[in-house]
Amino acid sequence: MNEIIEKRMLSEGVIQLTVYEPRIAAKCQAGQFFMLRVTDRGERVPFTFSDWSREEGWIRFIFMVVGKTTSLLSELAAGDYIKDLAGPLGRPSLRSHDTRRPSWGNDFEGLQQGGSVVVVGGGVGTAVAFPVARALCEEGYQVHVITGARTAELLILEEELRALPLASLSIMTDDGSAGSKGLVTAPLKELCSSRSVSHAIIVGPAIMMKFAAGTALDAGVPATVSLNPLMIDGTGMCGACRVSIDGATKFACVDGPDFSAASVDWAELMSRQRSYIDDERESHAAHQRHVQEREHENCDCFDESSLWARGFKKGGWAT
Ligand SMILES: Cc1cc2nc3c(=O)[nH]c(=O)nc-3n(C[C@H](O)[C@H](O)[C@H](O)COP(=O)(O)OP(=O)(O)OC[C@H]3O[C@@H](n4cnc5c(N)ncnc54)[C@H](O)[C@@H]3O)c2cc1C
Ligand code: FES
Repeated sequence: MNEIIEKRMLSEGVIQLTVYEPRIAAKCQAGQFFMLRVTDRGERVPFTFSDWSREEGWIRFIFMVVGKTTSLLSELAAGDYIKDLAGPLGRPSLRSHDTRRPSWGNDFEGLQQGGSVVVVGGGVGTAVAFPVARALCEEGYQVHVITGARTAELLILEEELRALPLASLSIMTDDGSAGSKGLVTAPLKELCSSRSVSHAIIVGPAIMMKFAAGTALDAGVPATVSLNPLMIDGTGMCGACRVSIDGATKFACVDGPDFSAASVDWAELMSRQRSYIDDERESHAAHQRHVQEREHENCDCFDESSLWARGFKKGGWAT
C-alpha cells in the first residue's frame, strides 16, 4: 500500500505521483481529496485526485513544491512509500445520477442535466479541473474548458484534456508562449457574455478564483469554486479550514471544498491562508539548509514546524 508506482516531473517544481492504493481508488470521485503524511512525524497535507484506476488500484495527484512538506514529497521516487494516506475526503463535485452511489455532490445552480458548462483551471488547479471536466463529459454535459498558466512549461494535462469530447478548449498563458496571451478571464468573459454556458466551475489560486468568478457572476452566470484553506485533520473536527459562506461558518473539508462563488468571503479566506506564512517560510528554509547539509533525516524540524505544533502554540485552530 502507498507505494509510488510512477513519478513524472511535469515542469520545474510540478510533479505527478501515481500511488498504489486500491482501497481509495475504489471509492474516490471527481472533486474529492485525500490527506497524506510523508513521515510519521510530518504534518498532514491535502491533495486532490487528478486521476485514478479502480481496476488497477492506483490514484494520481499533481502537486507544486511550495514549502517543506511538498519538498519532502518531491524527494520521494518510484518504489518509495508514502507514510500514510487518508481519503477520499470532501464532497464530490458532481451529484451522481447513479442510485448505487452516494449522491451528495453539488447542484450546479442554473445547470440542467445535459446543459452547457465551463470548467476553468488555473496553474495546478487544472489537475482538479480535469477529472471534473471528464466526469461532466461522462454525464452528458456540453463542456468547455479554459486552462491557464504563467508560461507554456507550467501548462499541465493538455494532452489529457484534448482527449476529452469537449465543446471547446482554450489555452491561455501570461506570456503567450502557448495558446493565447492573456488571462483565463478573457475567454471566460466571452463564453459567459454570449450565454454559451449556464454555469462556471473555477479551480486555482484564491485570487484567480475570486476574479474569474467575478467575471462569470458579472455576466449573470452562477459559479462554483473549489476552496483550499489550511487543513489539519480533513474530517471536520479541528476547525482549521473554516470559511465564511453567506456569513455562516462552514468547514471546507466536509462541507466543501466546492462552494457557490457568490457566497464566499474572499478577504477572510486569503487572510487565513497567510496566517502562518512566516513560520512556513522559516520551516522551508530550515529544511533546505538540512537538505544541503544532508542532515534532515534525523533533525527535529518536523515537530517544530508542523502545523499541529504551530496551531497549538498559537492557541488552537477553531478560533
Ligand atoms: C482541499 C485541498 C486540495 C488541495 N489540492 C492540491 C493539489 O492537488 N495540488 C497542490 O499542489 N496543492 C494542493 N493543495 C494545497 C496543498 O495542500 C499545499 O500546497 C501544501 O499543504 C503545502 O505544504 P508545504 O508544507 O509544502 O507548504 P507550506 O510551507 O506549509 O505552505 C506553503 C503554502 O501552502 C499553503 N498551505 C500550507 N499547508 C496547507 C494545508 N494543510 N492545506 C492547504 N493549504 C496549505 C499555505 O497557504 C502556503 O501559502 C490543496 C489544498 C486543499 C485545502
Ligand atoms: S481540516 Fe477541516 S475541520 Fe479540520
